[in-house]
Amino acid sequence: MVLVSPSLLSADFLCLEKEIKDLEAAGADLLHIDVMDGHFVPNLTFGPVIIKTIKKITKLPLDVHLMITNAEHCLDDYIHSGAAYLTIHQESVTHIHRTLAYIKSKNVKAGLALNPSTDHNVVNYLLDVLDLVLVMSVNPGFSGQTFLPTMLNKISALKNTFNNKSNCLIAVDGGLNLQNAQKCVTAGAHMLVCGSHIFSNPNYQSVIKSLQSL
Ligand code: DX5
Ligand code: ZN
Repeated sequence: MVLVSPSLLSADFLCLEKEIKDLEAAGADLLHIDVMDGHFVPNLTFGPVIIKTIKKITKLPLDVHLMITNAEHCLDDYIHSGAAYLTIHQESVTHIHRTLAYIKSKNVKAGLALNPSTDHNVVNYLLDVLDLVLVMSVNPGFSGQTFLPTMLNKISALKNTFNNKSNCLIAVDGGLNLQNAQKCVTAGAHMLVCGSHIFSNPNYQSVIKSLQSL
């Protein structure tokens, strides 16, 4: 089954607790939390205090996507916030291998996010420290953007790279709907991060189930 990680960025923030409970009841596998600092990306969202609070009201694993400059300087805040997965962008830290190894040493799953223009071949040198690679299928910063179809080639290339060498999950984030998500799964994706497509439908369960069964 394909894992579905709804992105809270598209949720109704005035009813965040209800939104999270509804996603849980709808069968979401994880909760994707987009941390943006207004510097690495041109938008500002959640921080560790909010993530810690969310952790108290849900059993869903928290899939924390850090879009922040100098992520290595505040990793402990996010590790202690209760993240199950902590994903950093290649461009946001100087020593990627060291940072991913540090995340893993704290018993948190380590993820690497690749911007649309970032070469995927770096993962060849990170196989021992990677639990997840997040293929950005939009330029990070906002929900509701259009999927970039050229990312399908990157997903296939990653599938070939990991073949028999790693259990690393391939996740895709940005602009997903049922049609392009199907192409991502065919290309090799194990996990779909989906924001506006889920939240724009009144029936979260039907969208989540449809994505899971691709
Ligand atoms: C974009 C974020 C995504 C975004 C996805 O920078 O990383 O997680 O919320 O939202 P949709 O599915 O609307 O593109
Ligand atoms: Zn994200």
